[in-house]
Amino acid sequence: MALWNARLNQNLLHPATAPFAREAEARVVGWLAPWFGMDGGHMTPGSSVANLTALWAARDLRGVKRVVASSAAHLSVKKAARILGLDYVEVGVDERQRLDLATLPPDLSDACLVLTVGTTAVGAVDPLEACGLAAWTHIDAAWAGPLVLSDRHCSVLSGIGRADSVAVSAHKWLFQPKESALVFFADTGAANTALSFGGAYLAAPNIGVQGSHGAAGTVLLATLLAWGREGLAERIERCMDNAARLQTFIAAHPDLEGFADGGTGVIVFRPRSHPVDAFREGLPRGLASLAILDGEAWLRCVCANPNADMDKITQTLDALARRHGA
Ligand SMILES: Cc1ncc(COP(=O)(O)O)c(C=O)c1O
Repeated sequence: MALWNARLNQNLLHPATAPFAREAEARVVGWLAPWFGMDGGHMTPGSSVANLTALWAARDLRGVKRVVASSAAHLSVKKAARILGLDYVEVGVDERQRLDLATLPPDLSDACLVLTVGTTAVGAVDPLEACGLAAWTHIDAAWAGPLVLSDRHCSVLSGIGRADSVAVSAHKWLFQPKESALVFFADTGAANTALSFGGAYLAAPNIGVQGSHGAAGTVLLATLLAWGREGLAERIERCMDNAARLQTFIAAHPDLEGFADGGTGVIVFRPRSHPVDAFREGLPRGLASLAILDGEAWLRCVCANPNADMDKITQTLDALARRHGA
């Protein structure tokens, strides 16, 4: 489908130039949105733009003046606040990097509260019971949103239906090529009104941040048709099983220390008695990235590949850890 896209090079800005591709996008949005308790939305090239779009709707529909998010929120949330001219209030996290409710300002009536499901550094899930405390609640589920499709893991997102908007990256756990993400709204009619601009040459209003954009929805539609919910859930569950195996391996290893498992397939660890940087240099490229938590260096593995060879990964880590531990 990506090749099909490249060959036709359709532009979804105008219905006349891409009738099927627009329909394909509408179908994937229509199928996915209800899993998050939302009634629609549109595709974006990434969750940075999805977050910006949601905060734009929050500002124009509810008049929010501030964005409140934890210190573990993705940088795109702060960036969106800056672009939109909104104040940014950073609140604290607990020892597992989840937003600490006790640090929220008492009055959120002029605020958009952003809760993250799967923080970038450790995969932590903010308390979704805070949905509805602010004038607008946005859920940044860029990474862990697709867990909603798994019967085994969907409880991670329980309560998300009380939010006003949700961002999900399809180019993460829906296995899409970049650039593919979605922004969903509880009231898409109202959001679309706030986010729409007409133009003399446009037959339909232009909704959202982008003008011209490509047919990422056709690729996602093909994936949904080929694999179905079960196929996606099975792959995501394999990733989660890989993560659980890695966490167990690290916990049992005398020379490795694990960070608390955030529950969304991001495993964070470090050597007990050796500098993280030197250890990282010994790892195969692409296996782990650096994360700084409370000023300390850790390594993080994002378990996004259902076909990862966990025997090989644990053997490699074991050999390296023993070498550094010795
Ligand atoms: C929690 C979270 N939000 C937003 C983003 C930004 O998404 P994108 O890179 O698709 O713009 C990321 C990316 O890693 C993320 O982890």
